[in-house]
Parts: sequence; structure tokens; C-alpha cells
Amino acid sequence: MNRQWALVLLMLACLLLTACSSVGNAPSTAEEPHLIVVGFSQVGAESDWRNANTRSMQTALSADNGFRLILDDAQQKQEKQITAIRNFINQGVDYIVLAPTTERGWETVLSEAKAAGIPVIIVDRMIEIKDSDLFTCWIGSDFRKEGAAAVAWMEQRFQDQPLRIVHLQGNIGSTAQIGRTDSLDAGLMAHPQWQLVFRGSGDFTQAKGQELVEALIRENTAFDLIFSENDNMAYGAIDALKKAGLTPGEDVTILSFDASSTALHMILDGEISFDAECNPLHGPRVRAIIEQLEAGRTPPKYTFVEEAVFEREGLTEAIIEARGY
Ligand code: AHR
Repeated sequence: MNRQWALVLLMLACLLLTACSSVGNAPSTAEEPHLIVVGFSQVGAESDWRNANTRSMQTALSADNGFRLILDDAQQKQEKQITAIRNFINQGVDYIVLAPTTERGWETVLSEAKAAGIPVIIVDRMIEIKDSDLFTCWIGSDFRKEGAAAVAWMEQRFQDQPLRIVHLQGNIGSTAQIGRTDSLDAGLMAHPQWQLVFRGSGDFTQAKGQELVEALIRENTAFDLIFSENDNMAYGAIDALKKAGLTPGEDVTILSFDASSTALHMILDGEISFDAECNPLHGPRVRAIIEQLEAGRTPPKYTFVEEAVFEREGLTEAIIEARGY
């Protein structure tokens, strides 16, 4: 075959290849629906609250509602959240939703999101940042108010009685921990007869709550009340008390936060005495914020959700059933 024939054959082969590949990439006849892509960096799965929060986001930001949700579970590690946010930026998501582990350390990565033009919505806990333009808005709980409600209940129940208090904290540096701890500290200052016999972090997990209370019982630390910064640590504490032959609610008073359905049943059973709600159902709220932004409107910068408190009086099975978590 001479050179001219070889050239002709080569050109034919190229034409054939182009034709084949354009058949493969032919646009589909059915129009793909346009989905808003949301990267959600979630703290982890440390508690019932957190799982309810994840479910709420998944339901509200579903494909049926016009969203593609990319969920990243950071296993309670801030460095994993920073990596997740960078991945979302690289993927060119439309929005980033961040449920931050702790308040500090977000400047650099949020500056990167801002430079990429991606709006960032903060949910649940707050961040501490100099330039508030690095995020679009925040929605979450007033953790200090929750703590103050628990302290008010203690004042009304125990007044000036001496009280030996065990304080189980959440992960240190998170707004939920800081707010609830600050309120207890204010109560301790106002009531010198209240004595803090132990304070330590159970990282909001049931296992660590149980470990801490088991250790206290082993060391013969005497206490009258457990101020547990979430329900899962309270469940662990209750298991530890029962294992030691103590009756929660009688030998030891338990106050908790979140008001998830298991905890509310424990109130009905008399094991937990007081629970301040921390509402995890942020999915529809985040969806509403994104819809406002899509419509060119400006959502409020900060929104605190309304929350209730629960004790035995007035609580019924029907109330628990209607709450959805
Ligand atoms: O930030 C909310 C807190 O985080 C909840 O009280 C706790 O259960 C969760 O893990």
C-alpha cells in the first residue's frame, strides 16, 4: 500500500471513530431535572440527636425536592470536616452546609469557600470567626438558654439544699458544651451550697457517659445529681447507676438535654427528671434558607429555634409520639 492509500484509510478510520463516539454521547431525549447540589459536612453519629438531624437533612434535601445532597460524616473530627469542605469546593457544589464540631478554626477553609463563590450555611452549633461575611447565615439552638432552664429547674426543686453535682460535658469547644457549661457555672456561683464533685467530657456519647459514672462509683465519689449535657451520656450514666444497684430518679436526680424520644420515655418512667429540648429538625429550615437564596432574597443572619422543656408533669405518650424524634 502506498503512502496516499494509507493516509486515506487513516482518515476514514478517524471519521468512523468520531461518528461512533458522537452516537455514544448523544443527548438523552428526556430532560435531566436540574438539582441543587448541597455538600453537608456533618459532625458524626455520636448521638440520637445527631442521627435525627442527619435524617431531617436527607429528607428535606432529597431529589424529589430538587436537591442532590452530598453527606460527609466527620466522625467528630474537625480536620475531617475541613477536608470535606475542600472536597465540596473542588466538586463545585452550589451550597455548603456545615454543622461544626467546635467553634474555632474555620477561617482558612471558609475563606476558600468564599473565594470559590459558594454560600455557606452553618447549622446547629455556632462558629467563632472575626469576619462574619465568611458564612451566609446560621440556624440553631440557644444552648445557654437551655442550660439556664435546667438550672432554674434545679433552683425550684432544691432551693438552698446542699447538692453534690456530677457534670458530664459534651465535646469541649462546641457551642452546645460551652453554653450549657456556662449556665451551670452561673448556677454554681449563685448557690454556694451546690458543690461540683466531678466535671469531665463524655464527648456526647453513651459509652463515655457510662465510663465516667462507672469510674466515679468505683472511686466511691458520692453525688446527688447528674447534669448531663445530652441524652446519650444520660443513658450511659443510667446504665452505670443501675449496674451499681442504684435507682436513677430516686438515689440520683438526672437532668439532660435534647429531649429525644427515648429520654422522654425515661421521664415517664421516673429515671430522668428534667430534659431541655435541643431541636435537631433543621432539614426543612435549611431547605427554606436555600430556597430564599435561590429566589434572590436574604435570609436572617442568625436564627434561634424555639425549644421546650420537659418533666414528668404534663408529659404524655401522645406528646412524645407527635415529636418525630
Ligand atoms: O449540638 C447539639 C448537640 O450535639 C446535642 O445536644 C448532642 O446530642 C449532639 O451530639
